[in-house]
Amino acid sequence: MAVSDRRILCVGVICFDELLYCENYPVEDSVEMVVTRELRPGGNAANNCAVLGELGVQCDLFGTLNTNSRSGSFVTEQLESYGVNLKQCEIVEGKELPMSTCIINKRNGSRTILHHSGDWPWVSYEAFLKIDLSQYTWIHLEARNFDQLKKMVKRIHAWNSEERRRIPMSLEIEHYHDHCLEMIPTADLVMVSKDFARALGYKSMSDTLDELHGYLKPGATLVVPWGEQGAAAKSPEGVFFVPAYSPERVLDTLGAGDTFCAALLSALSGGHPLQHSLHYACQVAGAKVGMHGYRGLRDVLRERGVRCQH
Ligand code: FRU
Repeated sequence: MAVSDRRILCVGVICFDELLYCENYPVEDSVEMVVTRELRPGGNAANNCAVLGELGVQCDLFGTLNTNSRSGSFVTEQLESYGVNLKQCEIVEGKELPMSTCIINKRNGSRTILHHSGDWPWVSYEAFLKIDLSQYTWIHLEARNFDQLKKMVKRIHAWNSEERRRIPMSLEIEHYHDHCLEMIPTADLVMVSKDFARALGYKSMSDTLDELHGYLKPGATLVVPWGEQGAAAKSPEGVFFVPAYSPERVLDTLGAGDTFCAALLSALSGGHPLQHSLHYACQVAGAKVGMHGYRGLRDVLRERGVRCQH
């Protein structure tokens, strides 16, 4: 399918990130100087879309947004500059966006996130019902807000069971929640984070694949990114382990997992095989952690000899 015919819908969080770059990770009850302060759009789905935009893949973001607030107008302007379409977003009035204060340790690029969402609402099923699904070739969802999410998934299943073009659906599970395991059999592709795997007591990528693969529906794929150890996946195509493509110096790991996810969706939705797509996702995530943010990712990939896969 030509790139211009493809459009991915990402459903999930949009927030406002304040990044504080420090020489060291702060000691509790001390004073640490912030070397650089940067503001960025954040939230997994928003980050997925920024990266898809950089990779040249058309995408729509479906999250809650207040375009009239200070944080919301900044985030809107930034995301639109990546080419992300925000027209599907559900508009919230009179509140600032959820916010994360992210401490980036300049020594190793680690990121520590302090997130506050207060009474900010998540996207609703009612707003999802208004979206014309026929324009999408892939739908990606974040596992949260389960009562609404289950209804959205039901709508996608109903769509897919009719005589129309099937839309593959992927699900990212980042944090442990009681409902997560029951969501696994609903998706064509499930991506689980290292944190989620560890919360279930799994110590490695292979443990996680072995333990969770049984929950998948037949024919589905399980993907496990594991930071500097690379990533693994299990599907009817086989079991694959691919290494990380670490840069010379790790500068900023905020959104590295979201970058991996976006690159994976870009390659898979373009019809590339799973093993190849996994390598590509690790290459793109590796390039990202060697730079600040996502702006210019495409150029960094070119310098590293990585061709965009879409
Ligand atoms: C990174 C991220 C940040 C955001 C936080 C929300 O994956 O999406 O951009 O502040 O996680 O949980």
